[in-house]
Amino acid sequence: MRIAVIGAGYVGLVTGVCLAEIGHRVTCIDVDREKVAMMTKGYSPIYEPGLEEMMRRNLQKGRLNFTTSYHEAFKEVEVIYLAVGTPQLPDGTADLQYIEQAASTIGTSLQKECIVVTKSTVPVGTNVRIKALIEEKSMHKMKIDIVSNPEFLREGSAVYDTFHGDRIVIGSENQEAAEVLERINQPFHIPIYHTDLNSAEMIKYASNAFLATKISFINEISAICEKVGANVDDVACGMGKDRRIGEQFLKAGIGYGGSCFPKDTNALVQLAGNNQHNFKLLQSVIEVNHSQQMKLIEKTQEAVGEIQGKKVALLGLAFKPNTDDMREAASIPIAHALKERGAEIVAYDPIAIQNAKQHLPPGIRYEESLINALAGADVALILTEWNEIKKLDLSHYVKWMASPIVIDGRNCYPLDEIKKYSIHYVSIGRPTINRKCLSVSVH
Ligand code: NAD
Ligand code: UGA
Repeated sequence: MRIAVIGAGYVGLVTGVCLAEIGHRVTCIDVDREKVAMMTKGYSPIYEPGLEEMMRRNLQKGRLNFTTSYHEAFKEVEVIYLAVGTPQLPDGTADLQYIEQAASTIGTSLQKECIVVTKSTVPVGTNVRIKALIEEKSMHKMKIDIVSNPEFLREGSAVYDTFHGDRIVIGSENQEAAEVLERINQPFHIPIYHTDLNSAEMIKYASNAFLATKISFINEISAICEKVGANVDDVACGMGKDRRIGEQFLKAGIGYGGSCFPKDTNALVQLAGNNQHNFKLLQSVIEVNHSQQMKLIEKTQEAVGEIQGKKVALLGLAFKPNTDDMREAASIPIAHALKERGAEIVAYDPIAIQNAKQHLPPGIRYEESLINALAGADVALILTEWNEIKKLDLSHYVKWMASPIVIDGRNCYPLDEIKKYSIHYVSIGRPTINRKCLSVSVH
């Protein structure tokens, strides 16, 4: 199939590259000239494991190319994927300006009838509007078929997820168009679920809202664990063994961040409100998430007393490991709160430092190595569970820090391991290991 993908971001680029990998001829279109120039040379503008290699392979095979021109991309196109961003407006609703711009340009650039597939996450009813807008702008009065094909990939494992997803949702009012989509995706060998347009749009929001709910639920349980002296990791593990509950997304920490859970939960609350439904449960999920990020500041204050003048090492800045994405990362409010309290901040992330500089407050020193960030620090805050941090030889905290106080927002280390070192260790929903009460010490 000849496919055009509009918007070469995390979703569009991964989709385009993976569709090329299974044999389709793909042109990715983006308005960002710099990105297009970079991708044409075989460089990925985002960090995503396995993406750049696959991208280069398909560029070389001539199955993949990049352009800023809709006209050029649409010459022989059969299917157009829409994957532009749908960020959040100040009131929490989805900002559809990029969708509307792209739909208008599709309309004015279309040279033949085709299928338009929406990958972007859009509120219920948007696909119907996209179809109407494209047809209204079409100079040759062309008709299109519209399909909702929401995306479920996770950043940091986007390529893997595209080939190993649990389901592909195809929402359409037109059976022929739905069958074309099924044929396109057949080589992925992933179960396909057909439904109508509105239900497909709702499946995406409901899925993200449910996963966010699991996270806020376990974070609430972690708060109670701290009060009653239980260990939230053991509790989550014991709960997850019930297959009706499942083990995933029960990791307590500093809450969910990223480009999607925060905006999609807000958008669903707004969508519900616009339809006279007060989504109280989801509002609480959002509230719990906000307070969870600030818990780390409270814990830091408890551990070091006055934050003013303390040298604080921030370990991990991206919203999750294996990505350079800083959108809604917990490191942002945490760094601001530390700055306001007069901390001297040193920050480290293996991949996200360049992006972090645009999101974090000024006056932070960035270090290229974990050890350099730890050197002389009064306290270390773990914000992202990068493997490098999880695998760190714990003696480094003792060896390099001015005082080995570790506030772990991601429960990276087993408590039994920590107990072997002279570290004051505070984590989420687990007993604090107090350096003064050590039974075993190697230093
Ligand atoms: P992104 O911001 O990384 O990428 C969007 C791209 O679209 C940018 O490169 C931008 O330059 C380009 N663009 C904007 N307007 C354009 C236009 N008119 N024509 C051509 N290109 C244009 O966004 P993303 O993270 O890939 O998200 C895209 C959509 O997918 C969103 O709706 C998001 O909710 C959804 N989604 C994202 C993820 C994820 O993990 N990031 C996962 C599932 C679904
Ligand atoms: C999430 C969903 O998992 C994808 O299915 C969806 O396609 C995507 O949003 C989207 O719509 O954009 P993503 O945001 O990339 O993917 O990453 P996740 O692995 O879901 O993590 C999101 C946040 O939740 C991270 O900050 C992570 O640290 C946090 N999290 C996740 C927890 O705190 N605990 C957990 O158990 C799991």
